Amino acid sequence: MASSKTVLSAIFTASLCFTVALAFPAHHEDLHPVVQSPPKPVLSPDYYKATCPQADEIVVSVLKKAIAKEQRIAASLLRLLFHDCFVQGCDASVLLDDSEEFVSEKKAIPNKNSIRGFEVIDEIKAALEEACPHTVSCADTIALAARGSTVLSGGPYWELPLGRKDSKAAYMKLANKNLPPPNATLHRLVKFFERQGLDKVDLVALSGSHTIGMARCVSFKQRLYNQHRDNQPDKTLERMFYSTLASTCPRSGGDNNLRPLEFATPSKFDNTYYKLLIEGRGLLNSDEVLWTGRDPQIAGLVRSYAENEPLFFEHYVNSITKMGNINPLTGYDGEIRKNCRVVNKKI
Ligand code: HEM
Repeated sequence: MASSKTVLSAIFTASLCFTVALAFPAHHEDLHPVVQSPPKPVLSPDYYKATCPQADEIVVSVLKKAIAKEQRIAASLLRLLFHDCFVQGCDASVLLDDSEEFVSEKKAIPNKNSIRGFEVIDEIKAALEEACPHTVSCADTIALAARGSTVLSGGPYWELPLGRKDSKAAYMKLANKNLPPPNATLHRLVKFFERQGLDKVDLVALSGSHTIGMARCVSFKQRLYNQHRDNQPDKTLERMFYSTLASTCPRSGGDNNLRPLEFATPSKFDNTYYKLLIEGRGLLNSDEVLWTGRDPQIAGLVRSYAENEPLFFEHYVNSITKMGNINPLTGYDGEIRKNCRVVNKKI
């Protein structure tokens, strides 16, 4: 055991060192001068206030026409924001076509024959270019289209921070790595979201986007015929719901047949999605496991949103704002593409 003398001397030495450190602080900067780079600009809802105040109005007017033509396009445009932001950040990389330098993210497994809405983005961007040339980025166009689509489907409005720039490349491999598959377990879904700095509340709230839109049979067929590699259906599927799904999606063929992600009010952005999960009538495995996956916090959120739509909307607005803030290019990083499908030509 240390004698009291040793302890006292240790305390004395430590306090002496501390006093000396205070009196003569080390000037690390003198040894290694730090070049202060200017702080990175942050996104702001007022970003286009002076340069294109009518941007949102233009977006919404094109959206209204597109949704009147095809209701589902609202869902497709909302999904574009998710598939953009989870791959190297919200930088419109998802919109780029193949080029000599890179393969398009459109060819990644979660996107192929599935992601849509590019023609409407083209139309919005052309209208923006005409009104305010070389001003509104493609990344902000996606974000504005996602918010407008949500609102026009009956969902909540949120203040949208703007000022994202567009990437000069696409990341097909990263799209395969970062976009969660529909048969993911709850544990894996949580990990996919954590990788983006998003938590369990974000996972449950943002999954509520599946209150609108459609999925192909191939995205949930495993649940009908071979959930656990045992030639058996997923036992958590409600029986009547199972029969309806099986009539649209036969055991073989029909992979591109479509079912609404939320069949009761498929084009209305509301909290019915969560009510159906509790009844065993969620469409994707990744939907139903939010309720059945034995995570009390996650299941508790599902119940709360099912019982309280304003709470769902409040959390949704918070989570989609977080998602829209993932790793944006700002200031002098990136560019404002003229055509969202190709990077600008070097002059
Ligand atoms: C939690 C992980 C998620 C998984 C595993 C997932 C998976 C899927 C799948 C497989 C489809 C159907 C694709 C097809 O069959 O062609 C789909 C559709 C959709 N997803 Fe997700 N998704 C997730 C999260 C999200 C998020 C966070 C959003 C938006 C913020 C979102 C929005 C949508 C929308 C709106 C549709 C319908 C699109 C349409 O009808 O064109 N999803 N999702």
